[in-house]
Amino acid sequence: MQSLLVDGGKRLSGEVWISGSKNAVLPMLAATVLFQEPCCIQSCPNLTDVDAAVEILTHLGARVERNDDCLCVDPRPIWRWDIPDELMNRMRGSVFFAGSLMARMGKCRLTQPGGCSLGKRPVNFHIDGLTALGASPDNDNEGVFSGHLVGTEIVLPYPSVGATENLILAGVGADGVTTIHNAAREPEISCLCDFLRAGGCRISGDGTACIRVDGGLPVSSQMQVIPDRMEAATFACAAASAGGDVLLCHVEPGHLSSVLDVLQRAGCDIVYVDGCLRIQAGDLISPGSITTAPYPGFPTDAQAPMMAALLRAKGTTMIDETVFSDRLNHITGFQAMGAHIERNGNCACIHGVDHLHGRTVTAQDLRGGAALTVAALAAQGKTTILGLRHILRGYEDFALKLRSLGADVHQA
Ligand code: EPU
Repeated sequence: MQSLLVDGGKRLSGEVWISGSKNAVLPMLAATVLFQEPCCIQSCPNLTDVDAAVEILTHLGARVERNDDCLCVDPRPIWRWDIPDELMNRMRGSVFFAGSLMARMGKCRLTQPGGCSLGKRPVNFHIDGLTALGASPDNDNEGVFSGHLVGTEIVLPYPSVGATENLILAGVGADGVTTIHNAAREPEISCLCDFLRAGGCRISGDGTACIRVDGGLPVSSQMQVIPDRMEAATFACAAASAGGDVLLCHVEPGHLSSVLDVLQRAGCDIVYVDGCLRIQAGDLISPGSITTAPYPGFPTDAQAPMMAALLRAKGTTMIDETVFSDRLNHITGFQAMGAHIERNGNCACIHGVDHLHGRTVTAQDLRGGAALTVAALAAQGKTTILGLRHILRGYEDFALKLRSLGADVHQA
């Protein structure tokens, strides 16, 4: 099993470039299916989840070319609509192809996608929304839907990021107007809408809870992916955990407000200068309580890295995970490293300790794996983090970037 080796206890200093956002680029790659001409995505991160999306596109018949961080897709030769289970299971982002394939081919196969194990992750909102737009399940073939899409009003029971994105993609291929109420407001959704608008689509209201999509397929587009706010949050937490003076370049501070607010309450000095965030961290204090919530609330994806940063903060921190039903698996690893945490259901009560110790621990999901690394940077001695494959799904050059800040982190 591939692992990360961390020799902790070194303060971080220097500058790091934040890559394009994983969770923005995955729906954009699914969106390329809708275009009538080739389109290019710049600042595309090099991640195994992106590789999986490219494999799906290639399987469908698209031509995909990558030059450094620019990924160009020619969707014109696409002729298939079915995605085999093996490809669906690789990542959660495979679910987005349902909306765009329904829109382009009038047919799709929507089975349970892969992705991190965070408790229950049903796709009922996606299916209900596509059904409202006119997709009908095929009785003989499990997971196969077909039909002609016609715009309608959809009310999501919860502002699901993935369902919002999927229904925008489907709405683009539907006749007439699709309105999504109680839509998610995450910046990755606006990035997807910008990409589609650059191709001529008429979409409004993204960033609010009500999105309107006028049907009509995009022509061609070229766009830069927004900076990855979760990678930025993880590096900010790494600086807070290990202490130091770190510059995060290529960031959108407005996307990080709730995370930066907690770090400031914990005692970090944070300023935004010349397009970079400067984070200076020494001894931390508890920021009080943190509750995860849909954007603009505190992001569930930053919950584990933030918990890692606060393991040595003076006082008691309460963290309540409300978005996913089981996303606290990293606690076991933190406890093995000497953290004092009480878990009660989806809540964690963290009592700051003076020291953490290096241990062998196992990453069980993407953000949990990154969080174990964040904790290991502050621990005395050596930590081995097993399950590196989880981290590689969402962090480009993770070890290399941490080394550029003076950390002793190597892949093995
Ligand atoms: N939900 C349902 N039914 C559905 C869809 C969602 O009950 O049909 C529930 C989920 O079970 C969960 C909640 O709604 O309890 C929120 O899920 P959401 O659909 O918003 O999440 P997602 O689209 O599956 C994306 C990101 C996640 C991120 C969440 C929340 C991608 C590829 N994934 O997942 O990212 O945590 O939004 O912000 O965009 C990660 O990057 O590590 C990651 C897990």
